[in-house]
Amino acid sequence: MFVTWRLVCVAVITLAGSDVRATLGRPSVSLLGSGASFPSRLYVEWAAAFKAFRKDKVQLQMTYKSTGSGQGNAMTIDRRQEVHYAGSDLLLTNNTYRQVPDLQMLPTSAGAVVIIVNLPGIKTLKLTPEVLVGIYNGTYTLWSDPDLKSLNPDLDLPMKHIRVVVRSDTSGTTEIFTRALSAFDTKWRDTFGWFSKGLNESADPNLRWNSSAYWLSGRTSLGVSGVVTAVKYSISYVSLLATRHLGLTRCKLSNKAGRSLAPSLDAIRRVVKAGNGKFDTRFNADLVDSNGAQSYPIVAYTYLVIRMKTMKNCDSAKELYRYIAWFTTNEEASYLCKENGMIPLSKNASERIVRGKYRVLCERLIHS
Ligand SMILES: *[C@@H]1O[C@H](CO)[C@@H](O)[C@H](O)[C@H]1NC(C)=O
Ligand SMILES: *[C@@H]1O[C@H](CO)[C@@H](O)[C@H](O)[C@H]1NC(C)=O
Ligand SMILES: *[C@@H]1O[C@H](CO)[C@@H](O)[C@H](O)[C@H]1NC(C)=O
Ligand SMILES: *[C@@H]1O[C@H](CO)[C@@H](O)[C@H](O)[C@H]1NC(C)=O
Ligand SMILES: *[C@@H]1O[C@H](CO)[C@@H](O)[C@H](O)[C@H]1NC(C)=O
Repeated sequence: MFVTWRLVCVAVITLAGSDVRATLGRPSVSLLGSGASFPSRLYVEWAAAFKAFRKDKVQLQMTYKSTGSGQGNAMTIDRRQEVHYAGSDLLLTNNTYRQVPDLQMLPTSAGAVVIIVNLPGIKTLKLTPEVLVGIYNGTYTLWSDPDLKSLNPDLDLPMKHIRVVVRSDTSGTTEIFTRALSAFDTKWRDTFGWFSKGLNESADPNLRWNSSAYWLSGRTSLGVSGVVTAVKYSISYVSLLATRHLGLTRCKLSNKAGRSLAPSLDAIRRVVKAGNGKFDTRFNADLVDSNGAQSYPIVAYTYLVIRMKTMKNCDSAKELYRYIAWFTTNEEASYLCKENGMIPLSKNASERIVRGKYRVLCERLIHS
């Protein structure tokens, strides 16, 4: 899939960055992003590393605010906002593309959502997608349910209520998790759907948790991990990074091929590989519930949302393009990605992004 852009006027950018002004002292350029919380730690670390990478050429003001995918997208779409790109786990709707045809999504990396439980004395627990859906929709209420027992015949599962924990704030992790539940079960999709909003934030009753099924909530992934650590017999979902330093039990989840898999960097890598760089015309790819025999079922790309031709500030547009080229090809960027529990894009996808197809065009040049 190659999207060729009609180059009205290209801010020609070489990665070497032979910036004339560099000789006249470093210009100051701002590159501001906001949005998805799921990759926010990675983006903050990328920003620091990229600033250092560019320090001889420009003085970069670079920040990434974790505001949630929806809000980040809205800020990119609203011209009055001083945001140059958004981080998003939400795919843009056709309606949004109709309103702003210039928007483009670019995948940056892939991550997994991990199911964590607090079951005293139990170090591994196997779940199936069906049981996971059933726990979150209120069908399964006891850990000793026969369906859970038959999946874990060697465990002495307690006759205790399952304390379902959800995120209370807007979250890309919630979005990816509920997208997976929707892929696992069409009834879930039609009843609860997928959503990123937390508690009390969604006006739409069809896009929210079953309020009779959850017991507790936590703000941010740290809050959720804290609740699960503190509350016996609880279960919740967090990013792989959030589980790193906790002694919590991570569940194995079976995939379409019936194989039970533990979440890990390798498991994400295999899903990305099995996807073989297949993206749709919007450069989106669905990795949830994918087909590979070794594919962990709750994996997703996280994206940037950018404007291709209508950024207001030409310097920021060029710097954004350089940033995209950097994180798709630079080894340190790739290392930071893995350090944050995410997997970089395949070479195939990176090359398609960098090879000139996704240059950021600059409005000021177009109109001058
Ligand atoms: C959005 O548009 C694409 C391409 O025209 C189409 O394939 C897709 O089904 C549309 N999606 C929705 C939700 O209408
Ligand atoms: C919500 O959870 C309750 C409590 O477990 C359950 O009885 C009810 O059927 C669930 N509602 C839906 C729509 O699944
Ligand atoms: C609830 O979970 C059960 C068990 O997986 C499933 O059979 C049912 O379709 C689900 N219903 C909804 C509304 O999610
Ligand atoms: C949601 O609203 C209820 C009732 O107004 C309140 O008790 C609860 O604390 C709110 N939850 C969050 C997460 O704001
Ligand atoms: C790169 O991705 C394209 C599109 O999915 C695919 O046709 C091609 O085989 C891939 N190339 C490699 C080397 O994997």
